[in-house]
Amino acid sequence: MRSLLLLAPLAWLLLVQAKDDAKLEDNLLVLTVATKETEGFRRFKRSAQFFNYKIQSLGLGEDWSVDGGPAAAGGGQKVRLLKKALEKHADKEDLVILFVDSYDVVFASGPRELLKKFQQAKSQVVFSAEEHIYPDRRLEAKYPTVPDGKRFLGSGGFIGYAPSLSKLVAEWEGQDSDSDQLFYTKIFLNPEKREQINISLDHRCRIFQNLDGALAGGDFATGLPD
Ligand SMILES: *[C@@H]1O[C@H](CO)[C@@H](O)[C@H](O)[C@H]1NC(C)=O
Repeated sequence: MRSLLLLAPLAWLLLVQAKDDAKLEDNLLVLTVATKETEGFRRFKRSAQFFNYKIQSLGLGEDWSVDGGPAAAGGGQKVRLLKKALEKHADKEDLVILFVDSYDVVFASGPRELLKKFQQAKSQVVFSAEEHIYPDRRLEAKYPTVPDGKRFLGSGGFIGYAPSLSKLVAEWEGQDSDSDQLFYTKIFLNPEKREQINISLDHRCRIFQNLDGALAGGDFATGLPD
């Protein structure tokens, strides 16, 4: 009941914000991989349209290389598609790209809020953070410790400047069935690469709120306002 009561004023605030955000569209591009128009994907698109995000879906019509879709092991296909899509953006220094899963994600605020939080993170690339290490638990000791918040890299959502994201995926030569999360984790856990590409994790979930099963799957909302 309480949540229903909150909805009315919130929706109004968000509408006002959405209008404002239209002019920021040129600096921000949302890329996602969806091979099918699932209900989850349509929900994702509706929330994107509500806030005036410009989104580009990669992979529609392609088969998932691993049964169970994007959330299952694998995910290499997502890196391959991202790498290809970034080719034409590699030199755009002002372009910020958000790469997110779409079947279990909704937007909770507009581009302005998202860009603000990204800039506050003071990194070229920011990954969502998870409480549990996956897929290789033996890497735990290599992870920097954090005073509080979530310690481990999640590949379900990340945001960064286009040239830095290009550097991030440049080395990808894996198979579609390989783990994207392991690929990014290994880059992050290499101190030289982490510093050179300038990657951080969203430990405090300021950009990526992982709802940890509050909805089905490992859903999260991006960019909840303060
Ligand atoms: C990382 O990027 C941020 C934002 O552009 C910048 O302020 C910071 O100095 C960079 N850090 C390093 C180590 O290059």
